[in-house]
Amino acid sequence: MPHIIAPSLLSADFADLKTAVKLVDESPAPWLHLDVMDGVFVPNISFGIPVIKAIRMHTKKVFDVHLMIVRPDQYIGAFRDAGADVLTVHYEACTHLHRSIQAIKAAGMKAGVAINPHTPASALEDIMADVDLVCIMSVNPGFGGQKFIENTYTKLNTLGALRKSKGSGALFEIDGGVGIDNVNKLLAHGANVLVAGNSVFGAADPMQAIKALSAA
Ligand code: DX5
Ligand code: ZN
Repeated sequence: MPHIIAPSLLSADFADLKTAVKLVDESPAPWLHLDVMDGVFVPNISFGIPVIKAIRMHTKKVFDVHLMIVRPDQYIGAFRDAGADVLTVHYEACTHLHRSIQAIKAAGMKAGVAINPHTPASALEDIMADVDLVCIMSVNPGFGGQKFIENTYTKLNTLGALRKSKGSGALFEIDGGVGIDNVNKLLAHGANVLVAGNSVFGAADPMQAIKALSAA
C-alpha cells in the first residue's frame, strides 16, 4: 500500500487558510491533517469546529482530525457534521476509550487513537483490533516544528507486532517532526500515514515538499 502524506494545517498561515487548503487540494497528498487543541489537554489552543466547516467546502481531500482535547465524546457528532472523515482521540484523554472509538464509528467516521511519546505501545493491546488508525506522537503534542523523538522507531516495531498478533488493519500514522530526512526510515518501520506540518508549510516551496515526501 502506498504511504499517505497528511500535511498539517497547523503550520500554515492562519490568515490565508484558503490558499493553504487549495495547495494541498492540488497536491498529491490524499489527506489533510487538522490539529484541534483546547488549552487543557495540551498547552496550546489552535482552531475548532467552525474553521473545519469553513475549509471543508474548498477540498474533497480526506479530513484527518486530531483531537487534542479533554472529553472528546461530546463533540463527535459536531466534528462529523463539520466534515471529519477520520477522527482521532487521545488514549490519555479518554477514560472510556472503547466507548469513544465505537461512538466515532457509529457516527460514520474512521476511528483513530493517538498516544503520547510516554505512553507504551502495550497500552493499545485491547483496543488495537477496534481502531482504524493509530497516531503515534513523535513529539509531545501542542506545537508544530518540534524535534522528532527517536524512540518512535522502537515503538513502531512493537506496535507492528501487536497489529499482526491482533489481526488488525489499523494504519500507523506518525505525527511530529516528520520530514524528508526521516521519511524513508519511518516507512521501513511500518508507518503508513505521515503528518507533515513544518516540513511542508515552513518550506520555501510547500508543493515541492509534499511531492518529495510523496515520492519517498
Ligand atoms: C502537534 C500536532 C502535529 C503538528 C506536527 O501537536 O499534532 O500534527 O502539526 O507538526 P510538525 O510536522 O511541524 O512537527
Ligand atoms: Zn496532529
